[in-house]
Amino acid sequence: MIAPHWKKLVNHASLMRDVEMRQLFAEDPKRFSKFSIQSNPILVDFSKNRIIEQTLALLFKLAEAAEVEKWRDKMFAGEIINNTEQRSVLHTALRSPITTHVSKEVDLELERMERLCNRLHHGQWLSYKDTPLKEVVVIGIGGSYLGPKLASEALTQFTQKNINVHFVSNVDAHLLDEVLNKVAPEDTLFVVISKSFATQETTANAETAAQWLREKSGIRRSVRKQFVAITSNSAAAKSFGIDSDHILGMWDWVGGRYSLWSTVGFPLALQIGMQNFRGLLTGAYAMDKHFQTAPLDQNLPVIMGLIGIWYINFLNMRDHAVLPYDHRLRSLPGYLQQLDMESNGKSVTREGNRTGYSTGPIIFGEAGTNGQHAFHQLLHQGVPIVPCDFIGFCKPAHEHKQHHDILLANMLAQSQAMMMGRSKKETIELLASQNITGKMVKDLAPHMTFPGNRPSNTIMCESLTPMTLGAILALYEHKVFVQGIIWNINSFDQMGVELGKTLTNKILPALQNDKQLSSADCSTQSLIDYIRKSS
Ligand code: F6P
Repeated sequence: MIAPHWKKLVNHASLMRDVEMRQLFAEDPKRFSKFSIQSNPILVDFSKNRIIEQTLALLFKLAEAAEVEKWRDKMFAGEIINNTEQRSVLHTALRSPITTHVSKEVDLELERMERLCNRLHHGQWLSYKDTPLKEVVVIGIGGSYLGPKLASEALTQFTQKNINVHFVSNVDAHLLDEVLNKVAPEDTLFVVISKSFATQETTANAETAAQWLREKSGIRRSVRKQFVAITSNSAAAKSFGIDSDHILGMWDWVGGRYSLWSTVGFPLALQIGMQNFRGLLTGAYAMDKHFQTAPLDQNLPVIMGLIGIWYINFLNMRDHAVLPYDHRLRSLPGYLQQLDMESNGKSVTREGNRTGYSTGPIIFGEAGTNGQHAFHQLLHQGVPIVPCDFIGFCKPAHEHKQHHDILLANMLAQSQAMMMGRSKKETIELLASQNITGKMVKDLAPHMTFPGNRPSNTIMCESLTPMTLGAILALYEHKVFVQGIIWNINSFDQMGVELGKTLTNKILPALQNDKQLSSADCSTQSLIDYIRKSS
């Protein structure tokens, strides 16, 4: 029963609402050591949050009452916790060195993946012209795209010689054209990633790419040679024309947005090599172990999940910004949008009742310092208060120390500014020091005052490696899991994406054949008419 604990948190929130973090820091020089945890390879500083020890104690009680640890153990044991689809949730088994009932099939696919990687890396994967393939065009969307793309950008420094990876996700063929214009048909391996092999965008892009290859090569069988499929629907991949030796399997117990660790990571393994890919798995496994074994009050995903709940459900802060101060993680906000919003963007409980409370936050973000010159104005002075995650690395992969120092100074300054703010008195003093006096001070001071007391976590690692990336992503996966358990929702289905897909299939023939849509609202029908008239 979580209700009494929920109630206590509501009462606690009314006491905490006006507590100033600035004050908490002034009163307690040990606040950082109290509210930060290092679990290798990650340090999380959560001291710049509107919490005191009692807040966390109450939140841990809430987690105990919601049986977070029991559910966590069920997930790791492969119990069917995805209740609407009657599936296990076993992405953690993909990175575990410990034998589980799925280890055999996972190892087998990883070995097949390794053989294909070696073939490409050793220049033995030949095109229809007998030239070695070196360009990799990945076609997939959602979980079959966001993870490989993010990791590919994050780990460019580990790229094998002579391999270029390109991604095509959107059905908008401007993107496909852009990529096909960059590659030569005799250089290119196409990797189609689709768990279902039925996703409209992916099959449309794959069909057009296959047609392009056939036309350019003049050889029908070029698709057999130069296409790979990652899918759990091998029958569809075969009937598409892909050689069965080039089909890597996926499993129904891995959700799309949790699938980077599976054969979905194949393009990444092609790019950075199998050993580095295994490094990613090792990093994620380290976080899995931490999540499984650390007590609640030392457990990073639990603490991050609970602090998120504290803001969303008790302090009415419904958004969350992800701010990686590292260009290599520029796609992390997009990746976490799917991970978090597709998992916890739900409004009914596991039993199908309306929750009656807020659930998953709106996630957005941008790599620092770009975001500072765009939406940080709102983060500092806007009406909504948006808790932020800052993410940074001590050592860059480049040699320009001055740039890196500026980058990290900006990151620390942002979180400090959000927390401290600048009071009206301080603003007036500042204006006075600039010889601004009289009415100008009165006019400007309200605009130049920063309310502060805006919360953030800071996540730091020594450097960005396959291992640290694996650990960071697993940290977020488990954070999302913890929140889903507390909200009593199923974080592992995504039925909200279905209706749009169904309607697309009805609208498409109306767009193409000038047919009236039966039962269309007048807005949709008029827009169809407008498009038809104007195209
Ligand atoms: O957006 C819905 C979704 O089903 C995601 O969950 C999934 O990652 C994506 O589409 C792609 O699905 P598939 O891998 O089957 O092509």
